[in-house]
Amino acid sequence: MNLQTIADDIVRELQPRLGEGKVADYIPELAKVDPNQFGIAIATVDGKTYHAGDAETHFSIQSISKVFMLTLALGKVGEAIWKRVGREPSGSSFNSIVQLEHEHGIPRNPFINAGAIVVTDIVLAGHAPREAIGEFLRFMHFIANDETLSIDEKVAQSEQRTGFRNFALANFMRGFRNIHHPVDHVLGVYFHQCALMMNCVQLAHAGLYLANHGTNPLTGFSVVSPRRARRINAMMLTCGHYDGSGDFAFRVGLPGKSGVGGGILAVAPGKASMAVWSPGLDATGNPALGSVALEMLAARTGWSVF
Ligand code: DON
Repeated sequence: MNLQTIADDIVRELQPRLGEGKVADYIPELAKVDPNQFGIAIATVDGKTYHAGDAETHFSIQSISKVFMLTLALGKVGEAIWKRVGREPSGSSFNSIVQLEHEHGIPRNPFINAGAIVVTDIVLAGHAPREAIGEFLRFMHFIANDETLSIDEKVAQSEQRTGFRNFALANFMRGFRNIHHPVDHVLGVYFHQCALMMNCVQLAHAGLYLANHGTNPLTGFSVVSPRRARRINAMMLTCGHYDGSGDFAFRVGLPGKSGVGGGILAVAPGKASMAVWSPGLDATGNPALGSVALEMLAARTGWSVF
């Protein structure tokens, strides 16, 4: 199996479809991104990286950051996290508020916005927001093995000004005492984690610990235990694409986490970590061409977990 050829073929075959989907415009700064871009990177657990297309162009990782913040929160409080956030798919859109009222302000899972905001509140843990942002950024440098990663302040500010639904979610949960810090502090951190800029190669490297039983094979550093890596992958498979999670499992068959910047991180346990990026989104707010690309990749590699 030649992974470079597979990546090159996918880029060539998707060329006529560039621009499919709709770029997220509820965060004004993201609406400015050229939709006619596509990148793919595959990092294998034996230390090789393959990439094609716009794999070295930086994009806003947005909700993909929720995987890394979940990893940090689990490291801080362990299993106690599950008292404040559930482990079930929501079947609702990523920014939905409806279930919270009947479910005591406990979000269904850590990947919908409400759940991710609780996870950020846990990581904040009595620190100043800038310390939590620094902790997140250092963690990303560590797992991606790349100290150049940085946050796009313009994207963070753009969401700070327009993230009304997130303010509603956070305030609502604070009313249930499931947010412990001031809402503007929690969302300040949340908007900054979402505004981290990465390219496909960096993202594929950052996901390697999930593909390799918790240890990054490029550095040899253990990030989480094998059991924790397995559990994070399980959450990504069942909840990583919100109300599109069933469809993604059906078509791709891999744990994956999407972001409204157009990126997807996907994990083939024991084999590889993959990142794809194209800005256009489908009706569920998940990357349109990115999921097509991963469907092709999974079919050609036989890496589906099923
Ligand atoms: O909170 C938001 O709405 C964004 N910062 C992140 C949402 C997101 O990426 C949803 N994923 N597809």
